[in-house]
Amino acid sequence: MSLIRNDKCWCGSGIKYKKCHMEFDEKLERLKKKGYEVPTRAMIKNHEQIEGIRESAKINNALLDLISKNIKEGMSTEEINTLAHEYTISHGGIPADLNYNGFPKSLCTSINDEVCHGIPSKEVILKNGDIINVDVTTILNGFFSDASRMFKIGEVSEEARRLVEVTKECLYKGIESIKPWQSSLGDIGEAIQNHAESNGCSVVREFGGHGVGLAIHEEPFVSHYGKRGTGMILVPGMVFTIEPMINSGSRKVFIDADNGWTAFTADGSLSAQWEHTIHVTEDGVEIISK
Ligand code: MF3
Ligand code: CO
Ligand code: CO
Repeated sequence: MSLIRNDKCWCGSGIKYKKCHMEFDEKLERLKKKGYEVPTRAMIKNHEQIEGIRESAKINNALLDLISKNIKEGMSTEEINTLAHEYTISHGGIPADLNYNGFPKSLCTSINDEVCHGIPSKEVILKNGDIINVDVTTILNGFFSDASRMFKIGEVSEEARRLVEVTKECLYKGIESIKPWQSSLGDIGEAIQNHAESNGCSVVREFGGHGVGLAIHEEPFVSHYGKRGTGMILVPGMVFTIEPMINSGSRKVFIDADNGWTAFTADGSLSAQWEHTIHVTEDGVEIISK
C-alpha cells in the first residue's frame, strides 16, 4: 500500500504523508532491505496517542506513589487493591487488570516467591521481611499505561535487598540499551540477561514486556533475555514495557493450579520485578511511567 505524498499519513495524525511519516517509511524500507526485522505500522504511535498514554501514566504513577506511601506491615493485599481501585476511578481512570481475561482484581500483588500475577486477598497480610511487587495498569480515555515497583516490608534479608536492587538495575540496563534506528529487541534482552546472570540471578523466560498504549498487551513481545543485534529494530513512535522478572534461584516457574494466574518460582526462591512503559524517541528514550 503506497501513499502519495499529499495524502494524509497512515499514522492518523491528519498531516500530509510527506510532512509526517514519509521519511520514516523510507528509512524503515532501507533497514528492511538490509535484512533487519522492522516494526509494523500498528506498533507506531502518533503524537496524540503518545500524549494520551502520558496522561494515563500520570494517574498510574501517582497511584504507585500513593501505594508507596501507604504500604506497610500488617496490611492486606486486598487493602492495596481497594486503595488503587478507588484512586483510579476517582481520577477518571479504569483499572485495566479488572476482568482482563477474567482477572478478578484491579492490580497484581506478587510477594516473595511469586513471580507475577499475584491476586490481592484479605487473607494475604504483609509481614516483616517480605518483598512485594505491585503492578498497575491504568486506562484513561482509552489509553493504557503499565508500571510496577518493588516494596520492602520492614527489615528484609540481604539476599532480598540485593535481588530487588539487581532487578531494578536490569530494567535500567534494558532501557539504556535502546538506540533509535540502531538497537534491536535482542539488545534489551542481552543487557538484562547479562546483568542478572553476572549477579548470580536468573531471568524468567515465560513472560516478557509488551507493546502498550491502545490495549494492555500489544505487539511486540519484549524478551528479557537474548542476543544483541537480533530481533526487531527499535524506531521512534514505539511504546512498550520492559518488566524483567528476576529470580534469586532457578529461572523455572509454575502457575498456581487453583487460581490459574499466579506464577511462582519452581524452587521457592525469591523473585523480583520492576516495570516501566517507555517510548522510543528520535534521539533516545522517554520513560513515560515516571
Ligand atoms: N500489568 C501486567 C503486565 O505488566 C498485566 C497484568 S494482567 C492481569 O503486563 F490480568 F494479570 F492483571
Ligand atoms: Co506489562
Ligand atoms: Co504491568
